[in-house]
Amino acid sequence: MSDSDKTSFAIPSKVNDVLFTGDISYEESQKLYRQWAEAGTYDQMLHRNPKEYNALIQFTAGMKDLFPEDKSGRVLDLGAGTGLSGEELLSVGYTNIDALEPCEKFVEIIKAKGIYKNIIERPIEGENSLDIPNDTYDAVGAVGSFCPGHVPSSAILEIVRIVKPGGKFLICMRECFLESVSEYKDRLVPLFEDLEKQGRIQRLEWTRYPNHFAGKDGIRMEDEEEEEDKDRRRKSSNCRMSISGRGGGGQEKEKEVRRWRRKRTEEEEEDWSRKRRTGVGRQEEEEENRRRRIGGRGGG
Ligand SMILES: C[S@@+](CC[C@H](N)C(=O)[O-])C[C@H]1O[C@@H](n2cnc3c(N)ncnc32)[C@H](O)[C@@H]1O
Repeated sequence: MSDSDKTSFAIPSKVNDVLFTGDISYEESQKLYRQWAEAGTYDQMLHRNPKEYNALIQFTAGMKDLFPEDKSGRVLDLGAGTGLSGEELLSVGYTNIDALEPCEKFVEIIKAKGIYKNIIERPIEGENSLDIPNDTYDAVGAVGSFCPGHVPSSAILEIVRIVKPGGKFLICMRECFLESVSEYKDRLVPLFEDLEKQGRIQRLEWTRYPNHFAGKDGIRMEDEEEEEDKDRRRKSSNCRMSISGRGGGGQEKEKEVRRWRRKRTEEEEEDWSRKRRTGVGRQEEEEENRRRRIGGRGGG
């Protein structure tokens, strides 16, 4: 690797230009991560450096709140990179962390750090892409892994499958990728909405924070389930998540943080609680009645 290539991987705006701009392929992005690993500048540039990578601070704050008391549950660091996210999880008390990371050179680095119980060296793709049993993790966290040519939208289905009923997942990603990355545009948000309609995840709440990476805003998506809901959901073996955040960065920036919540309409709320109570929503009930009517007519 030439000195000028090495320099490119030492300056956030240059990394941003090659790795996080446009719609590059998975293969291209992995090639760039290999080069970044060889340049050896990742940790030095991004570790505890909110001016360049506020996402990591947001991630740690969000994950810390997921299980305020017991942090011995199984956690997956999805797209673990060089393990900075795992080190942060350790620092706030988590003790049982696995890593999922496809870049071999990064895997060499995280093996040497000895942070993770298990390291799964492969990418997450759509549902059933991972050799991990259903309902394995208490929490899955992904910071910086939803980018062009990285984790596909359909991976949400796989995350929901491997998170335990009542378990949680948290994603910190650059907000503009929801529109600028064709893999996410008109896919990622509708997928969350569909899963919510199906009653598999719950209570979406999104908040923007400044300076995810290289000066671009991010969104933090996390769980906010109440104890009562959690118990009910465990029993009904559904998975849930919500999306939220509290913003952060410098004092001045904090004032700019906007926070909002997707609310259901009254009708949706009523249908939702009925579905949770009885396991059957209005639409399913109407469909069932319709089937009975048709069956009644033809059956004689
Ligand atoms: C920007 S880095 C973030 C690393 C780490 N979470 C951090 O905050 O320092 C994104 C990581 O996601 C990994 N990645 C890309 N596509 C992935 C996929 N489909 N499944 C899992 N990880 C993926 C990359 O190899 C890279 O290490």
